[in-house]
Amino acid sequence: MIRADLVVVDAAQLLTLKGPAPRLRETLRDLSIIEGGCLAIRDGRIVFAGSRDRFEAEVSLEDPADVIDASDRVVMPGFVDCHTHLPFAGSREQEFARRLAGDTYQQIAAAGGGILSTVRATRAAADEELLDCVLQRMDRMLLEGTTTCEAKSGYGLTVADELRLLRVLARAGDLHPVDIAPTFLGAHTVPAELRDDRGRYVRMVIEEMIPAVAAGRLAEFCDVFCEQGAFTVQEAREILMAGAAAGLKPRLHADQLTACGGAELAAEMKASSADHLEHSTDDGLRKMAAAGVPAVMLPGASFCLREETWAPARRLIELGVAPAIATDLNPGTCNTESMQLMIALACLKMEMSVEEAIVASTLNAAVTIGRNETVGTLEAGRAADLIVLDVPSYLHLAYRPGINHVNTVIKKGVVVVRDRLLSYDS
Ligand code: NIG
Ligand code: FE
Repeated sequence: MIRADLVVVDAAQLLTLKGPAPRLRETLRDLSIIEGGCLAIRDGRIVFAGSRDRFEAEVSLEDPADVIDASDRVVMPGFVDCHTHLPFAGSREQEFARRLAGDTYQQIAAAGGGILSTVRATRAAADEELLDCVLQRMDRMLLEGTTTCEAKSGYGLTVADELRLLRVLARAGDLHPVDIAPTFLGAHTVPAELRDDRGRYVRMVIEEMIPAVAAGRLAEFCDVFCEQGAFTVQEAREILMAGAAAGLKPRLHADQLTACGGAELAAEMKASSADHLEHSTDDGLRKMAAAGVPAVMLPGASFCLREETWAPARRLIELGVAPAIATDLNPGTCNTESMQLMIALACLKMEMSVEEAIVASTLNAAVTIGRNETVGTLEAGRAADLIVLDVPSYLHLAYRPGINHVNTVIKKGVVVVRDRLLSYDS
């Protein structure tokens, strides 16, 4: 018999997502569903996923064991939010109001607002204050069903401040149930004090920041905001190559506001992901497909910036690019932790099916951060990172938007949200 200390039984739909990773094209529609499915967990790992009949024949409970009834509910992998700007201080609701009144994101940035205003607030915040902001965001993630996230620095923009943000992330990862895949984004924008000498800042990123980040093992990935007003393709190439040489895998903010060659560069670098892609050229998307570079689409950024152009999800899928979706959680272009809202937007504004959006927010997202062997599916041997939704069918995730459907969250075999309330020990 398989021994279990925690079981989740009788799910209306158990979405295991067992099968190929990343999912491409038609395999994106396969959620490997077990109706009336049961899960058994022991020591933080899944030891059984299958039908009620097999569960009864094969699983025996430890004494005591925790039994969660999932009848009339959906059980699925926890969300993997594979693009966030988690560590920052302050907020920018006044800029948001100006955008509602007609100013553009670029106008506000050119006038010294935007990323630079969050850099000022972040530099001024003490470590403990930053840590507190990060932990509060992680609590909201957990309540919304996110069990793993990627998180970028990028609001420090000095050697000391970028390292500080990554150290805060490391502490938060130790203190909080949500797992963090850290990314160095020193090349988010040129800081105010070096606006007249951008070459010097690029050299600082390459010669001082990357070696220090690598030596401290503070990040797994290196990202660049490749955009007019941020970094050019050539600068991004040099930074990503220096990062790769130091062991930091490349990812890229590509073609968010203009077609600037970002998708092409991500393909050339064989990046772990190319993110945004709202304005990518068809040739760039084809190159990504040929290079096997996944797309991270950020529908919340288009939504909050009131853009008319959304990431070309259908075209990417047709070309055989692996689609992922994420929140982009940041104070400027999308200040939300809700992956459920991203799923609704992906379906309603990017013409994805709910099945595709679910794969894109779990298994395919895990692929982009190199975690798909441990999270993103519910099968024996994987981490017990899962959520129980108060809905009888996964279609409700997009059909009933703006509502948190998460009832229970299990992270590494521990019930960290129960009946919609946080329940972990910190
Ligand atoms: O992904 N595009 C660059 N970075 C963020 C926005 C950051 C900000 O406005 O603070 C993004 O949208
Ligand atoms: Fe971003």
